[in-house]
Amino acid sequence: MMTSSKQHFFISETQSQKCYNNETKRKQMRIAFIGDIVGSPGRKMIEDHLKKIRQEYDIDFVIANYENASHGFGLTVKNANELVSFGIDVMSGGNHTWDKKDILPLFDTHELLRPHNYPQGVPGTGCKVYEINGEKLAVLNLMGHYSMPFTDNAFRCAIESVTKLHKEGVKNIFIDFHAEATSEKRALMMLLQGKVSAIVGTHTHVGTDDLQISEATGYLSDIGLTGCRDNVIGMDQKVPLKQFLTGMKGHFEIPKKCKRILQIVVFDFEEGACINGFKLKYFDDARVIKTEAWMD
Ligand code: FE2
Repeated sequence: MMTSSKQHFFISETQSQKCYNNETKRKQMRIAFIGDIVGSPGRKMIEDHLKKIRQEYDIDFVIANYENASHGFGLTVKNANELVSFGIDVMSGGNHTWDKKDILPLFDTHELLRPHNYPQGVPGTGCKVYEINGEKLAVLNLMGHYSMPFTDNAFRCAIESVTKLHKEGVKNIFIDFHAEATSEKRALMMLLQGKVSAIVGTHTHVGTDDLQISEATGYLSDIGLTGCRDNVIGMDQKVPLKQFLTGMKGHFEIPKKCKRILQIVVFDFEEGACINGFKLKYFDDARVIKTEAWMD
């Protein structure tokens, strides 16, 4: 809990819950986002916890990043169907979107995104609009540039997409920015704060400690993975250790046994503004850690 003199800017969960349940509820939506789901340990955590989390926190809509969901690389039809059945409404992608050939038909049958700044003509889309409690929510998936595949400029794509959505009357906009560098993610935040409802980074698999609401935009540089928490970015440490010790590359594998974690961020949006945010970390030994967003 915040205890500083700026406490008056902070909406505690009790206050926000009250606010959320009052007569303005129809103007509000509570959305949740899960980052990179890494392999079967990640999918298992979603299966075990997501429906209970949705119920406990009265979440209207869940977005999750699928790009590592199947064996750490891409998404199969079977796993896509599982994740939908576990309570995910729409899934966003990244640099591993194309790793499984199953992905192409999935764009026609599932609520699935790929980074919107892939060049024109690439299958699928990275921006879709949904209706929640009578209000519109756009989900925009972008991919950064440092250490990433070739794409169109993410920042220019962001400006064009957000301008178009505003012209169409869409106020609530959530962005999954799949990028390596925290500087790129922070720069997108500076570009779009006050114009979109929330920006959350994915791809590094390591959560950052900067959940905030600035100029009514929720922001987190990286939410961190959902999957194994006691290895290297959700993968068995043998191959990355060999790679760092010898320079010889190998195929990353999901550990057969591991300690698991589910990381989820929850935001309340009203008329395009983010009015409340918190992150939950669920451990497979039943611990739960909650972190509130600070508000500027
Ligand atoms: Fe990635």
